Amino acid sequence: MSDTSTAIERHHHITLCVGTAQEDYDFHTKVLGLKSVKKTALYDGDVPIYHLYYGNDHGAESTLVTTFPMRQSGRVGRRGTNQTKALMLSVADTALGYWRARLADHGIEVRESEVLGEKRLEFTHPCGIEYALVGVTGDDRSPHSAGPVPQEVGIHGTHGITVSVRDLDLLADFMTAGWSGRLTEEEHGRARFEVGAGGSGRIVDFVAEPQLDQAGWMYGEGIVHHTAFEVADYDTQTAVKAHLEGIGFTDVSERKDRGYFESIYVRTPAGALFEATVSKPEGFLIDEPYEELGRSFQVPPVFAGQRDFLISYLEPLEY
Ligand SMILES: [Fe+2]
Repeated sequence: MSDTSTAIERHHHITLCVGTAQEDYDFHTKVLGLKSVKKTALYDGDVPIYHLYYGNDHGAESTLVTTFPMRQSGRVGRRGTNQTKALMLSVADTALGYWRARLADHGIEVRESEVLGEKRLEFTHPCGIEYALVGVTGDDRSPHSAGPVPQEVGIHGTHGITVSVRDLDLLADFMTAGWSGRLTEEEHGRARFEVGAGGSGRIVDFVAEPQLDQAGWMYGEGIVHHTAFEVADYDTQTAVKAHLEGIGFTDVSERKDRGYFESIYVRTPAGALFEATVSKPEGFLIDEPYEELGRSFQVPPVFAGQRDFLISYLEPLEY
């Protein structure tokens, strides 16, 4: 039987609902220097929505930020508490000066801050989602090697997420009893949990913001939609689902095939959506070779045989 107390290993991907596809694509590839590792569409629903994946050369787990451009749908996300509000990405601590200048050159307003002893640069995605580049040492995940940002100062991958909540204690119960987490730091209404070996790619911060309105759950521009965490295999994933259901989180989804990985989804008690993901052995190379990775649009199964319709329906995207 799988040990569910250690099942959640690290982030797999963080998924956002953004504005236009072009604005998002340019921000992630031209400003942040991430690789476009997949261009496809949302696997759910009856109306096509782009699904764009960004990461390092192979799109390794915990280097991935993925986006649903929502402007075309006309739906705007409802921000508030009980929702993931920010993502933190990891760079070398010696690279913060480079990034401060680079972001300024691109007209992006940057704020320097220090949170839980970590130096960081705070800025926002064009759609308003909060980002922070956090300076760390010893992150061995390889940044994208062929982008506009030199590899030695490139983004290593995710560092953490920040989840706004009404009640920190409710989340402590979920993280420790259900999500293989442990409380590692606490200050001024902020609690940091880490999974797996801890450190970059394994951090979940909760901040108490009870004064804010309840956030919405619908896909809509300007919100973080969910965070996926890597689990080792299907047996572990099945055990995580059974364990969560056994302690009272009965709304865990069935396993869903997302083409490049398979996932289960659960609402945390705050409402932020978490996902436990098993990568397929082929990963992003399942439908295109490494040399072509991310270069052409991949039709999702729900719209199989409708490539021409999808291309004509979805907003134009230059890449
Ligand atoms: Fe996901």
